[in-house]
Amino acid sequence: MTTLVIGGAGYIGSHVVRLLVEQGEKVVVIDHLATGYRERTAGAELVELDVTTAEAVPALVRVIRETGAEAMIHFAAHKQVGESVAKPEMYWHDNVGGLANALSACAQAGLRDVVFSSSAAVYGMPDVDLVTEDLTPQPINPYGATKYVGEWMLADAERAHDMRTVALRYFNVAGAGWPELADTQVMNLVPIVLDALDRGHAPTVFGTDYDTPDGTCIRDYVHVLDLADAHIAALTYLRGEDRPHRVFNVGTGTGSSVLEVIEAIARVKGIEITPTLGERRPGDPARLICSADRIREAMGWSATHGLEDIVRSAAEARADA
Ligand code: WQD
Repeated sequence: MTTLVIGGAGYIGSHVVRLLVEQGEKVVVIDHLATGYRERTAGAELVELDVTTAEAVPALVRVIRETGAEAMIHFAAHKQVGESVAKPEMYWHDNVGGLANALSACAQAGLRDVVFSSSAAVYGMPDVDLVTEDLTPQPINPYGATKYVGEWMLADAERAHDMRTVALRYFNVAGAGWPELADTQVMNLVPIVLDALDRGHAPTVFGTDYDTPDGTCIRDYVHVLDLADAHIAALTYLRGEDRPHRVFNVGTGTGSSVLEVIEAIARVKGIEITPTLGERRPGDPARLICSADRIREAMGWSATHGLEDIVRSAAEARADA
């Protein structure tokens, strides 16, 4: 079985590639190495290609035909909310255009099974305790909008062609399965705190007056290794007969506040951290906790790592770097 992994040299993609390679699967990574790294694709064939260009479609068709790939996982996308607000055209062009090209190539080459990286960002600012997939998405930024549109594109592709698709809505991904595959970008809470500590700075908490037990925002932090495992489960699900759903949340079902994350980091590093208590960041919901029932029932997947594992693996990977 050969799997095409578009964006497989990046943080999450490379974890999935590693798991597939370890299982003895043949993997072809498509990546233009703008934010990914060649070394992360060890054990897979790497084809350097920018999927957002028109020439990508015939090139992808050729790769699918030559390798006999039967499944595709599509990671390649920009993923910074703030950048998406500043450069919406780039997000629409690359995130949506890249997926359109990939789906077009799959349809032309007869590749059937597709797994797509969606995001909890599709939900926007839901005012609920647990976010279920039945909630109507209302993205509040171009990044989330491109992910929601991506899900529509998958549904349309299924209707038009002999295709089966799954969209995984990731909650807050962090940690490292292997130190060398760690997140090298400093864009999210865990890497931001670790980076601040390394530079001798206090991390900043964005808002302490939310309607939560300790006043700071609550998120559902999922270990990247668990998330990678969910993609393997999704591939198996697509090959099965019984497929009741196309869209799945991926999270733990448990929330942690910003202060709890900082405390967990202090524990694993054996230090005291006194964060700076700052203002709210615009656009942050007070809580975003995943209902992970659907993916457990349909695929038998559930997270096996907790917050402590997440921050320990992230801290150890930084220490190794
Ligand atoms: C987590 C919490 C911050 C930095 C984003 C995207 C989402 C998804 C994951 C890709 C929030 C607080 C942060 C800091 C802080 N991306 N924080 N001090 O915003 O929940 O989700 O990344 O799919 O779409 O929106 O993640 O890591 O930025 O923040 O207090 O220095 O940490 O306010 O409550 P977020 P994050």
